[in-house]
Amino acid sequence: MDTISIDLNKISTAGEAPVNEPERQYYFMAKLKEWVKQKSEELGRPLTFITQTFGCQMNAKDSEKLAGILEEIGYVETDTEEADFVIYNTCTVRENANTRVYGRLGFLNSLKKKNPDMLIALCGCMMQEDVVVEKIRKSYRFVDIIFGTHNIFKLAELLYNRLQSKRMIIDIWQGTDQIVEDLPSERKYKFKAGVNIMYGCNNFCSYCIVPYVRGRERSRNPEDIIKEIKDMVADGVVEIMLLGQNVNSYGKTLDKPMTFAELLLEIEKIEGLERIRFMTSHPKDLSDSLIEVMKNSKKICNHLHLPVQSGSTKLLKAMNRKYTKEQYLDLVDRIKTAMPNISLTTDIIIGFPGETEEDFLDTLDVVRKVRYDSAYTFLYSKRTGTPAAVMETQVEEEVAKERFNRLLKEVQDISADLTKRDEGTVQTALVEEINNQDSSLLTGRLSNNVLVHFPGCKELIGKLVDVKLAECKGFYYLGELVE
Ligand code: SAH
Ligand code: SF4
Ligand code: F3S
Repeated sequence: MDTISIDLNKISTAGEAPVNEPERQYYFMAKLKEWVKQKSEELGRPLTFITQTFGCQMNAKDSEKLAGILEEIGYVETDTEEADFVIYNTCTVRENANTRVYGRLGFLNSLKKKNPDMLIALCGCMMQEDVVVEKIRKSYRFVDIIFGTHNIFKLAELLYNRLQSKRMIIDIWQGTDQIVEDLPSERKYKFKAGVNIMYGCNNFCSYCIVPYVRGRERSRNPEDIIKEIKDMVADGVVEIMLLGQNVNSYGKTLDKPMTFAELLLEIEKIEGLERIRFMTSHPKDLSDSLIEVMKNSKKICNHLHLPVQSGSTKLLKAMNRKYTKEQYLDLVDRIKTAMPNISLTTDIIIGFPGETEEDFLDTLDVVRKVRYDSAYTFLYSKRTGTPAAVMETQVEEEVAKERFNRLLKEVQDISADLTKRDEGTVQTALVEEINNQDSSLLTGRLSNNVLVHFPGCKELIGKLVDVKLAECKGFYYLGELVE
């Protein structure tokens, strides 16, 4: 499921590597292709790899790019870490993301002892932090390659350097204004795909580490985005998810500025594309023209993820979110007036420094007023280097946990109530997979992101079908195919 086809056999590996990208990477990929072939012949089996993604959809997309490069040079993907090349694409948004990575590294070391040819690479957001790289350099000597978020495209060159030098290769960039196009990418699903429309973040919410590890906001050119989607559609994709930390500020930094709403209008025109999703929307930049475009669109899904983070205007100010409780509720009103049936989801942080019972009640109030279809709730996690980490009024863990549980109950009750509203109706679902608990059932996703399980044959995977939502089971439906 490769969208870009490069004929590596036509790339010359004689002489020095070209300076420009992506030609430079094609050169290293061609060199590695020869090496992989030789090595496989020696071993009498293909070389295998696995990428493990920690973190968000941007990371998942980056992992697809890594997989694309490795497949192009002849590695074969496997689903076990007993592989010849294991890549951990890490996340550092909350402390527990880091803990998980350290926890699993010891296990990787034990695998490497059994397979001396095994290579281990760490990349992604966690690697953009100096303390992490220092710790790995000192205490995890068996790691072969460390790189960051800005030079994902360089995997082939880094792997080549590692094979040449036999030493740990560390290449972390502090930032970049470069966007390298035209490298391979290996999609996880044939029928749906993520598409980066921008990289980085300029918002500096005071709790958040993303702007430090992902760098400044950069939008891709609309022509490149449209071309990528058209190629994907020609290759069987019917649903895309446009990705960015704040898609609503898309296009501001382009030579020819363009709004996100305008980009959506262009994407809507792509024939054969059936569904458009996007994330994430920052409430401060969500325009009335975007609401209008969503309302009139035949392809944009009936779902909006609109992270609120907190319902307290005081905390929102301390979080640097740039909207008040009232402005958020007013925005939700405008969205619901235009699209009464829309499914809204959100992210909420509990235990941000300075949070009082009163602030928490404001958050509960917003949850009750908006009535989210679902909400991702997080306990505040202190990230070194962010302004919130040095705020003096950190909330006690016990207090935060108690509030967290109260919030969770509220969110789940509302969610179960809302999901039920479509019971008995017929809706279109994109069939995604065979149900992993009962193989006689298929699992499909509705426009509003809710799942439905129904009897059917696997030939329907990747197709949009009409399903009667016979019975609501809390957060999902059991249904029947409507012929
Ligand atoms: N760009 C997206 C969010 C990316 S991070 C946006 O602005 O909506 C995903 C979610 O992780 C955030 O929405 C926030 O709720 C949560 N998060 C980020 N930093 C956090 C921290 N330090 N502690 C707890 N949750 C955090
Ligand atoms: Fe983090 Fe805020 Fe940027 Fe989202 S918008 S990635 S929460 S800084
Ligand atoms: Fe994590 Fe990086 Fe995404 S920190 S949430 S993987 S942008």
